[in-house]
Amino acid sequence: RKRTVVLISGRGSNMTALIEAASDPDYPAEIVGVISDKADAHGLRVAAARGIPTQTIARSDHASKADHDKAIDAALAGFKADIVALAGYMRLLTTSFVEKWSGRMINIHPALLPAFKGLDTHKRALEAGIKVHGCTVHFVTPEMDDGPIIAQAAVPVLVGDDEATLAARVLKAEHPLYVLALKLLAENKVTMAGGKVCFATGNGLVENP
Ligand code: GAR
Repeated sequence: RKRTVVLISGRGSNMTALIEAASDPDYPAEIVGVISDKADAHGLRVAAARGIPTQTIARSDHASKADHDKAIDAALAGFKADIVALAGYMRLLTTSFVEKWSGRMINIHPALLPAFKGLDTHKRALEAGIKVHGCTVHFVTPEMDDGPIIAQAAVPVLVGDDEATLAARVLKAEHPLYVLALKLLAENKVTMAGGKVCFATGNGLVENP
């Protein structure tokens, strides 16, 4: 099973979904650690309660962004991580860190990329008046929310929605989507090559079908 470390900053509901999926021995990834940049992240308590080793690596304990990411990289080495899953990790990672983990690091974003990169996706979706919204799991590349797309799930935007109701509907779609995407990666059914995503078929890997 692929040794997977989840990076969080807060609630950790996507992390919890991955931990739950990986509690099935047939799931191809195991969650071997959780790292947070925030000592008070709720997800740290959830992970610890489930017996998953956790570490806090705070930006304020490091002189530079590069040093912070180096400390995270060292922790990943300590966990012998094969895969890094960003799950509500609210910090941009340095290019050298991203390049080192290229093809082995994925992120979940609460919008149908390439629409609504960045923050406040649900607020902006409502303002734009779109009728279909959703979430995306993608490979992490140095540009924010820009990497090749592995999987997406769509949800309707309903009359009367506010940010909270829309966020809740999207979040419900995020959890199974992330479980599916990590499974595909851990089984080598999806890979990133030359900045593009490739999916396994009966005939080998095909580019972005
Ligand atoms: C999720 O909606 C995730 O997609 C989003 O933060 C939330 C974290 O919730 N991620 C981003 O906005 C990344 N920029 P969780 O901690 O309960 O998984």
